Amino acid sequence: MADITVRPLRDDDADRVLAIYQAGLDAGDASFETTAPTWAAFDAAKLPAHRFVAVDGNNTVVGWIAVAPTSGRTVYAGVVEHSVYVDPAAQGRGVARLLLDTLIASTEAAGIWTIQSGVFPENAASLTVHERAGFRVIGVRERVGRHHGRWRDVVLLERRSPVVT
Ligand SMILES: CC(C)(COP(=O)(O)OP(=O)(O)OC[C@H]1O[C@@H](n2cnc3c(N)ncnc32)[C@H](O)[C@@H]1OP(=O)(O)O)[C@@H](O)C(=O)NCCC(=O)NCCS
Repeated sequence: MADITVRPLRDDDADRVLAIYQAGLDAGDASFETTAPTWAAFDAAKLPAHRFVAVDGNNTVVGWIAVAPTSGRTVYAGVVEHSVYVDPAAQGRGVARLLLDTLIASTEAAGIWTIQSGVFPENAASLTVHERAGFRVIGVRERVGRHHGRWRDVVLLERRSPVVT
């Protein structure tokens, strides 16, 4: 991990971000989506702030994290949903944890009080890294959507900031 650093995501990271996104989707336990969006669609869906990439010693992007609003209602203005994806070749080294900790610090500094996410129960690495980062399971949605024709459950996770009051 010594050579991994995190910096704000830039537009010129688009190709790497979308390639890592597609590799995660292809692995089969990341999302109901099967095809990564265009950069324009990604850019429109994610908040402009709180976007980060992890970069290795060769200055190669090996992971990313970003958030989307969960509602247009003011009462939920401080509730976001995040996505985190790490290049398969860089997994198991703490990259996602570093990105999550960076996201937590960035969102708390902006007054965002809750980060949520939906994770397939089969995605053990994701459940583990989120638990370690202070997320708790708030429930499981049963057979809530089809993925490659198969109904799948989704574990709902949230992290309520202890510092944003
Ligand atoms: C989930 C994902 C982001 C994790 O990234 P990562 O950089 O490998 O994660 P980290 O190394 O920081 O932490 C992974 C943790 O899970 C643990 N883990 C890994 N595989 C595991 C498994 N099969 N069972 C249980 N725990 C596992 C690791 O030991 C590590 O725990 P640790 O804190 O004790 O070291 C990565 O696998 C990924 O990009 N997957 C595809 C996209 C995806 O599913 N994103 C999450 C959806 S929001």
